[in-house]
Amino acid sequence: MKAWFKCIGCNGTAPLEQTTFLCANCGDLLEVEYEFGEVDATPIFSVGGQLSVWKYRMLLPVAEKTISISMGEGGTRLIRCFNTEHQFSLGELYVKTEGDNPTGSFKDRGMTVGVTKAVEGKASAVICASTGNTAASMSAYAARAGLKAYVVVPESGVARGKLLQSLVYGANVIMVSDNFDGALKSVLDTERSGRAYLLNSVNPFRLEGQKTLAFEIYEQTRPTLPDKVFIPVGNGGNITALWKGFRELVQLGLIDRPPQIVGVQAEGASPIVQAYEQGLDRIQPLSNPTTYASAIRIGSPVRWKEALEAIKRSGGLAVAVSDMQIRQAQSLLARLEGVFVEPASAASLAGLIKLRYKGVVEGDEKLLCVLTGNGLKDPDSAREIASEPTRLTSFDRIL
Ligand SMILES: Cc1ncc(COP(=O)(O)O)c(C=O)c1O
Ligand SMILES: [Zn+2]
Repeated sequence: MKAWFKCIGCNGTAPLEQTTFLCANCGDLLEVEYEFGEVDATPIFSVGGQLSVWKYRMLLPVAEKTISISMGEGGTRLIRCFNTEHQFSLGELYVKTEGDNPTGSFKDRGMTVGVTKAVEGKASAVICASTGNTAASMSAYAARAGLKAYVVVPESGVARGKLLQSLVYGANVIMVSDNFDGALKSVLDTERSGRAYLLNSVNPFRLEGQKTLAFEIYEQTRPTLPDKVFIPVGNGGNITALWKGFRELVQLGLIDRPPQIVGVQAEGASPIVQAYEQGLDRIQPLSNPTTYASAIRIGSPVRWKEALEAIKRSGGLAVAVSDMQIRQAQSLLARLEGVFVEPASAASLAGLIKLRYKGVVEGDEKLLCVLTGNGLKDPDSAREIASEPTRLTSFDRIL
């Protein structure tokens, strides 16, 4: 199937072999576009079999002879949340637990494709800036592929589990006395030297892997897609990929209409929500984003344009939630449903609850929250919602 890069700014095209990820004409970001023409996608989406990113290989921009760098990405659980439905008088509520992925977050969907492309292009080193999960994921896949890994992270605020993951996988971890936006800027500068293959969200191949989230949602919920899909937004990569996946399902003739996409940000780091609420067609970056959900502590999201487009074109909306609301949603998921997620992931449910109270979410809708990462990654934040253990004195006093 024919595929090429298309610029999201000027619609210019470029071959996939090009090694830079910015448009040569206008400097904007690129995405992969396909000519689906004759493709019959029905066998790819036929019922049965294990779900995984590579199940959709035919819809990914990877050469036939390329061996994928993979350890079983995707195929994450879709869990119905009866207790939460009852508590908030909801129609149907499902969560998709992306923390089931090999390194504990949705990033693995994109990284398996991104690192496969790095190897296909004969790279010897890979680099990213990260709030933690991209770093953990890239480090693991680089180890598997025998590539040198350089991760640049903010000096403070990266969850302990994520940092340890990168170090244990053997990556070179570079700390900068700056926030994520500053870390990304220094990585983009380094990337221009061409010495390492860039694996941040500007890399369009990562989004290709991440779009399989939409494919799996389609497979796991058919014949009726959710009315609304709630997704946490930081850099805007995942919401862009989700929307792209649904658009491709429409192009392939498998669905008529995508769900409404609801992007959720933390109040202290919500430039996309602010632009949406003020009806602006561009964001105003924040220089000092703050939130307890460190994974989405981003003031200058790279994929903001497409994130806004996903929200608007799907008829969805953008909503900001407070740290308190995120904490409550994190605790609720654990205590009502037995699902332990990291704070950023709980933002999706926090957004849903906020919109339920406002009456924007109605009581007869089919809803899905994307839970992006595993709770064990961030033990320090989890302490805040954890109870204290009881010291054993006598069982009579405990039971
Ligand atoms: C757990 C978690 N949730 C959500 C996000 C936000 O995803 P994106 O930056 O693609 O918007 C991230 C990004 O690091 C993350 O790690
Ligand atoms: Zn362009």
